[in-house]
Amino acid sequence: MEWIVLLIILSFLLRPKDRGKPYNHYFSLLNQQLQKKAGGQPSQLVDLDTVDNNLEAVQQRLHGKTKLRLVVKSMPCLPLINYLMERTGSRRLMVFHRPFLSFLHRYYHDVDFLLGKPLPIAAVARFWHTCDDEQKQRLSHIQWLIDSPERLRQYLRFARQQHIKLNINVEVDIGLHRGGVSSADELSVLLGLIADHPRYLQFSGLMGYEAHIAKLPTLPWRKQQQLFRARDEVARRFTQLVSFIQQQFPDLWHDQLTLNGAGSQTYMFYQHMSLFNDISVGSALLMPKSFERHWLRGHRAAYFIATPVLKKLNRFELPFLEVISKAIGWWNPNWRQALFIYGGYWKAIPEAPGGLSLNRLYGRSSNQEILTSSTRTALTMDDFVFFRPQQSEAVMLEFEDLLIVRRGQIVEKWPVLSRSISEVSHG
Ligand SMILES: Cc1ncc(COP(=O)(O)O)c(C=O)c1O
Repeated sequence: MEWIVLLIILSFLLRPKDRGKPYNHYFSLLNQQLQKKAGGQPSQLVDLDTVDNNLEAVQQRLHGKTKLRLVVKSMPCLPLINYLMERTGSRRLMVFHRPFLSFLHRYYHDVDFLLGKPLPIAAVARFWHTCDDEQKQRLSHIQWLIDSPERLRQYLRFARQQHIKLNINVEVDIGLHRGGVSSADELSVLLGLIADHPRYLQFSGLMGYEAHIAKLPTLPWRKQQQLFRARDEVARRFTQLVSFIQQQFPDLWHDQLTLNGAGSQTYMFYQHMSLFNDISVGSALLMPKSFERHWLRGHRAAYFIATPVLKKLNRFELPFLEVISKAIGWWNPNWRQALFIYGGYWKAIPEAPGGLSLNRLYGRSSNQEILTSSTRTALTMDDFVFFRPQQSEAVMLEFEDLLIVRRGQIVEKWPVLSRSISEVSHG
């Protein structure tokens, strides 16, 4: 008897706090507009005012001599890329996908493209054979990324067959261990091949991505120190390779080489260093959830998914366990109601209103996902719930458009890149 009383007291004391909250003003306004403008289906939104804020944060923290390169895969939307290029004056893009390269290279006549990963030679061939004559004249606007002698030999063979010259940027491993050359000896083999074939190959620089720094497991009291130590190690490796080129291949060295590095989570570590003259940033402009780092504090979330509530049930019931679910609902105020939404299972987590949660006990669904919540969320049928994507690159292409927000108002609809491409090829 005593232990039953103890159990009741304990479960009362351990009861989760009610996390439910209605929308704040921002999401309440968006909800009202989405009900009129979203056509009753899942949508994605980008707030351009927040993008501007994030862009300013980036620009303030770039070393004066460093050029910004926009990462296409992290914001695959042509009007968004146009907007960012206009605001920054950047004419540099990093691309990762052959169809995007083909489309963007045809579209932009004055942009420098750096591949963010080494493409198979078959993709290079597909690119070349789908170029129009005018594009073929602008092959020098592309820097192909090369990670190994085997790949460079493939590219050389192709350049010879087609009587063309390819710009070669060498991927270097400065700690990420995702491939690329990691020693002067390996670099020497690639540079030797390039130097021996000046008709077909042109050295255009190095690319050293170092996202591992941002993932470094650190002791809380030594965070800053450990991060800077990892950054210094990256700098040491990169500088060593640069010095090697200057000393051993002086004919390949010049000031216009592209020395690319960094990304959204690390760009700010080089603001007092002229290690890279070309820094890539994409995701930090939209700030998906998984990019949150304490050193990215000035960046705010600019990108959301919104979807209508189809059904609101004032109870949460697990099939076969109805009685137990009722007890859980009594115990946990955040499981008092079940919302079934239009779509779901995105790489995203609920953001607004407060206190919504995915329910893994019930299971995930891409068709009608369940969210559990407290009654304080004050949602009703047809209201929109907001999610914060964990990343932008995969999620954005799951939709056709972006709804663009300015001063809290949905003002435009911009197509995602895959849609722009299919409209051109079908139009
Ligand atoms: C080579 C390379 N550079 C830069 C980036 C940075 O992209 P983001 O700024 O979107 O993180 C990435 C991301 O995967 C990458 O692979």
